[in-house]
Amino acid sequence: MTDEWTINVADRIRRLPPYLFGTINRMKYEKRRAGVDVIDLGMGNPLDPTPETIVEKLCEAAHDPRSHRYSASAGIFNLRRDLARLYQRVYDVQLDPKQEVIATIGSKEGFSHLCLAMMGPGDTAIVGDPYFPIHVYSVALAGGNVINVPMGNDEAFLKRIQYVVEHLYPKPKLLILNYPHNPTAMTVDNIGFFEAVVDLARRERIYVVHDFAYWRTCFDGYKAPSFMQARGAKDVGVEFVTFSKPYNMAGWRVGFCVGNPEMVRALGTIKGYYDYGMFQAIQVASIIAMRECEEDIVAQNALYQQRRDVVVGGLRRLGWDVPSPRGTMFVWAKVSGAHLAGQGTIDFSLRLLEEAEVVVSPGRAFGEQGEGYVRIALVENEQRLKQAIRQIDRALNKGIVAPSASKLKK
Ligand SMILES: Cc1ncc(COP(=O)(O)O)c(C=O)c1O
Repeated sequence: MTDEWTINVADRIRRLPPYLFGTINRMKYEKRRAGVDVIDLGMGNPLDPTPETIVEKLCEAAHDPRSHRYSASAGIFNLRRDLARLYQRVYDVQLDPKQEVIATIGSKEGFSHLCLAMMGPGDTAIVGDPYFPIHVYSVALAGGNVINVPMGNDEAFLKRIQYVVEHLYPKPKLLILNYPHNPTAMTVDNIGFFEAVVDLARRERIYVVHDFAYWRTCFDGYKAPSFMQARGAKDVGVEFVTFSKPYNMAGWRVGFCVGNPEMVRALGTIKGYYDYGMFQAIQVASIIAMRECEEDIVAQNALYQQRRDVVVGGLRRLGWDVPSPRGTMFVWAKVSGAHLAGQGTIDFSLRLLEEAEVVVSPGRAFGEQGEGYVRIALVENEQRLKQAIRQIDRALNKGIVAPSASKLKK
């Protein structure tokens, strides 16, 4: 290979926005290689183990030679049927497992392939800002455009969407929603909001994709509503759920898309060309997760709630403006002006890594509206989180704020 040789990659690669976590990740690995005990609260990658019941079922199913073949790309019927039963039990929503449920290799895979099935050059998707980066990248990879509107969970947010729909030509095709929201942890109170979304979608003929990744990760007695509970939701859109968070199965890659049968079929068609489905033993173990691991979800949420209280309490003592989230595994914190000291949050996060040896995600990596904020993932245990707060305090204030065990005021 000569020096002049350059690979002419496809345009879709060039269209991707810059990866803003790159420098932080590089620095983190360098520090770790140098033996520094970096506390990584950057990524929502659960550190807690998958419940033992699920692991045991996986081992048993892995010994069955029938698991070793190619599986069904849409997921085996029993898996889809059990997800439909779970929707019935938890949300009182009826789903036809044959036409309205499809299994995906994690929800990220399903989401991006659905974008490929729905979007092409000239098509536009509306996405709230701040956003989960995949919601923007997947549309870009499919050749479509993204219009961002400031993120919200109320009528004003729907009005901003309505404005875009009325003023953009050609009209947007897709509305991408996500509640409880990553990164802001914004939630919706009731089905009324989703019913207004359905009305808007039907009136303007746009399709809705609801990323419901934090469907079961809620605290303080809050239960996140499913978009599918809204009257007419199945006519206009689909919802994605994942096992990554409620069952700590992030590495297993188990997700689902449910709802509008035509959109589910379109996703199935794309997937049929790309994959043969999840390893069948994982599908069998996932059925057991749904049948036997409700208590594990409750226990995991209690852990997140305690960790949330540690982080929110600690950051408030630093003088930051931090709402107490009732869903997701993140705290979305507005950095105090004094600590930001005129820096953007990307530089600020690099400073925290350098001086406090703590990784947080800079808000700017989630869109323009994220500037001024950082996202903290509640993946470490309480002791490590307290340690992280102490290190942040020491780096920013030279240890002015004493750690306190005082109960968090909500
Ligand atoms: C909002 C949101 N959607 C999707 C995903 C990806 O989930 P999965 O592991 O099922 O691909 C995540 C993971 O962090 C997420 O936060």
